[in-house]
Amino acid sequence: MTGDSPIDETLFALIAQDIEAKGYSIRPTALADALANNLFNHQQGIEADKFEEAGIGRGGEYLKNEFVRTDAISWITNGSEAGRDWLTWTANLQSFLNRRLFLGLFSFESHFAHYGPGDYYKRHYDAFKGEANRVLSIVVYFNRAWSASDGGELVLYQDNVDKEGIKVMPLLGTIVTFLSEEFPHEVLAAKRDRYSIAGWFRVNTSIAAKVDPPR
Ligand code: OGA
Ligand code: MN
Repeated sequence: MTGDSPIDETLFALIAQDIEAKGYSIRPTALADALANNLFNHQQGIEADKFEEAGIGRGGEYLKNEFVRTDAISWITNGSEAGRDWLTWTANLQSFLNRRLFLGLFSFESHFAHYGPGDYYKRHYDAFKGEANRVLSIVVYFNRAWSASDGGELVLYQDNVDKEGIKVMPLLGTIVTFLSEEFPHEVLAAKRDRYSIAGWFRVNTSIAAKVDPPR
């Protein structure tokens, strides 16, 4: 199992430091090779028809909106070994960040994403202030030998008025985490297939007897 090796504690501490200092963390070659390869192979093995066109929002508010995003997604569950290893790793990260930063992260949801050539995700926030559900976003990438001419960068903006942003190439093993309410971001159109996982740690927004699980 890859989830609780001492190496990851070192990585988790670096991510925590970054988030405390800047609100975001960009860590190239950070995801363990074995975990990254298992996840990538699993993503490749998922039938194309199991992927759905990505939408915006959830439940009854779920809308397919090609103006905003055109990628295809598949939610990750415990039903595969790769899925279980990933969810173990993210649970370890969650409890580390809760101990270190008192974030009160309560649950986690994530999906594979496939952007074909030309696909994009326009500038957006993963969460809106006051709605207090998605607190921390995480993205990891599975693309070997990506170069600037391939496009497909994640652009992380500091705030609403930032036009420049920080560009991140979606290279195998890179882990990006950021506070969901603080950083607008977008995915530029890629010239080749782009594979990733996007996930969100949430706080508990249950009220009374109504439990509010991820999905
Ligand atoms: C998202 C997202 C970024 C990326 O899925 O919400 O912003 O680099 N993904 O894939
Ligand atoms: Mn996003």
